[in-house]
Amino acid sequence: MEERLQKLLAKAGMASRRGAEALIRAGRIRVNGQVVTELGLKADPTQDTIVCDGKEVHFEQKVYVLLNKPSGYVTTMSDPQGRPIVTDLLTGFKERLFPVGRLDLETEGALLMTNDGEMANAILHPRYHVNKTYEAWVSGFPRPEQLHLLEQGIMLEGVTTLPAQVRVLKRSKHQSLVEIILHEGKKRQVRKMFQAINHKVVHLKRTAYGQLRLGTLGPGKYRILDDKDLKKIFSNKIPFTIKNILA
Ligand code: URA
Repeated sequence: MEERLQKLLAKAGMASRRGAEALIRAGRIRVNGQVVTELGLKADPTQDTIVCDGKEVHFEQKVYVLLNKPSGYVTTMSDPQGRPIVTDLLTGFKERLFPVGRLDLETEGALLMTNDGEMANAILHPRYHVNKTYEAWVSGFPRPEQLHLLEQGIMLEGVTTLPAQVRVLKRSKHQSLVEIILHEGKKRQVRKMFQAINHKVVHLKRTAYGQLRLGTLGPGKYRILDDKDLKKIFSNKIPFTIKNILA
């Protein structure tokens, strides 16, 4: 696919978007042997040879996929116990996609898969405040003051959890459906948080990363994300390195 040269160079990690523009203006970039100094030019990394200071620039297409992970799949890249792994659900990709963070074997829902390590780190780092939204069916009916404890931060294994947003969505005869929004991801965090207030999680689903919602995507189904989708993930604070890629 054709894209503006400065965007391609930024995506390849050569420089920031501004830095890439400076490289072009300085005449340090050649496309198919021709020096390019004009900023509007588009190129296709699958067809064109792009060279910076005499060295060919290698482009790996970055791919971002939103999968609805079904229960019973592990989010590791291999499993010694031979259980199904999430990558089994993705077909036809030549890129090696890995999951952004983990979901427990039994947890369902939104799981981002990508070959972009930088993007994955930004999504997982609490600094960028990417909210992860979960819907948890829990036993019984947690009282408002118990939910308030989860909101404020609760001590788990010697560390206080970061502030969270918590609200009850509905109740059945014996259980409550609680939405909890976190911007960190400690192992089995949602389950442990509810355990700490004596309400066991009986079913857990992640429904969103930032404003990027799972929507109607069925279990085991996935879709390829575009720049608009990626911006929704970072609606709070777009990391500088990612800003160069999205525009
Ligand atoms: N919290 C959990 O307890 N489990 C998950 O899979 C994700 C968040």
